[in-house]
Amino acid sequence: MKKNEIKTSGKNYPVYIGANIFDSLEKVINTKKVYRNLFLVVDKKFQSLHRQDITRFTLNYSNKIYLHEYEACEANKNFESLLRILNDLITKNYGRDTTVIAIGGGITGDIAGFASSIYSRGVQFVQIPTTLLSAVDSSVGGKTGINFEETKNIIGSFYQPDIVLIDTEFLKTLPDEEIICGMGEIIKYAFLTDIKFFITIKNNLTKLLRLDSSITTKIVEACVNFKGDVVSRDEKESGLRKILNFGHTFAHGIEIEQNFKVKHGQAVIIGLACAIELSKKIGLLEKSLYNDFISLPLALKDKIAISGFDVEHIYEIMKRDKKGRDQKIKFVLLKDVGSLFVDVEAEENDILHSIRQGISYFIK
Ligand code: GLY
Repeated sequence: MKKNEIKTSGKNYPVYIGANIFDSLEKVINTKKVYRNLFLVVDKKFQSLHRQDITRFTLNYSNKIYLHEYEACEANKNFESLLRILNDLITKNYGRDTTVIAIGGGITGDIAGFASSIYSRGVQFVQIPTTLLSAVDSSVGGKTGINFEETKNIIGSFYQPDIVLIDTEFLKTLPDEEIICGMGEIIKYAFLTDIKFFITIKNNLTKLLRLDSSITTKIVEACVNFKGDVVSRDEKESGLRKILNFGHTFAHGIEIEQNFKVKHGQAVIIGLACAIELSKKIGLLEKSLYNDFISLPLALKDKIAISGFDVEHIYEIMKRDKKGRDQKIKFVLLKDVGSLFVDVEAEENDILHSIRQGISYFIK
């Protein structure tokens, strides 16, 4: 089991990564001395597949235990679901000495983390990501929140977990669609880090898609390390952390316009294609690099299908996105691997062109 330490101004916390490490949770929790009054928020799909793992852990460890089953999907990442979690915390008499444990993907982690941050002015919080996307990205860094109407994550907080535990064994029960979603964030990190990592990802796509253990744990660890470093330097996204949103402004617009039929990680892959198109269109990305770069999201194009889209609607949603409060969309764009520009504004025509061009590759 590998241990990485995330350092932020308010809190340092460990991220444990390894195969079959869920059974070490009790030991890990003891080391960190978090409260034994456990409130579990568990993704229903995960619960049905891994009921025995959860029961084994909870029987041994807890003073008090409640398992809140959550049907994780973007449409349920809302006030009603949040209220249900808070209502259970109150009616089951959980106090300040509570540890909320999120077990599931990014949606489960986001809503459980937000509930933890506001319940009793903040209770302890453990992230157990069970999807590839949440393992490589959302479980680390402390972004929590819910959606409201047509805006993603517009209500939320920065609330770092006390512990993150990534058991790569859990990834083996994921459907293909979830692996593709995780690949969206992994490809994002390929552009953000350095050319060596970019080439590693490019050369190992097939192995990653089948979760080959010779590479998967190493890549999860590399993404977590990179993100941890960025978050430790800019926890609240005042500058550097914005690079982690590469492709995401387009992705949020696409997800919402497609009524969440395209999942977040899939939308990130399309969003990366749109962002690369815009980077080229405004002259930031040289044509000589463009072919190599666009080929990475496009290597997954057969795994995602869109039948049609309304470019104006996507553009309107993007304008409402939290990254563009002054109605000017701020983009993260690419000059080269490891060289990104944040807060870039662009002409409406160039944005519309990039949406059309980026999505066109995925139309079936
Ligand atoms: N997923 C982007 C971030 O955590 O900042």
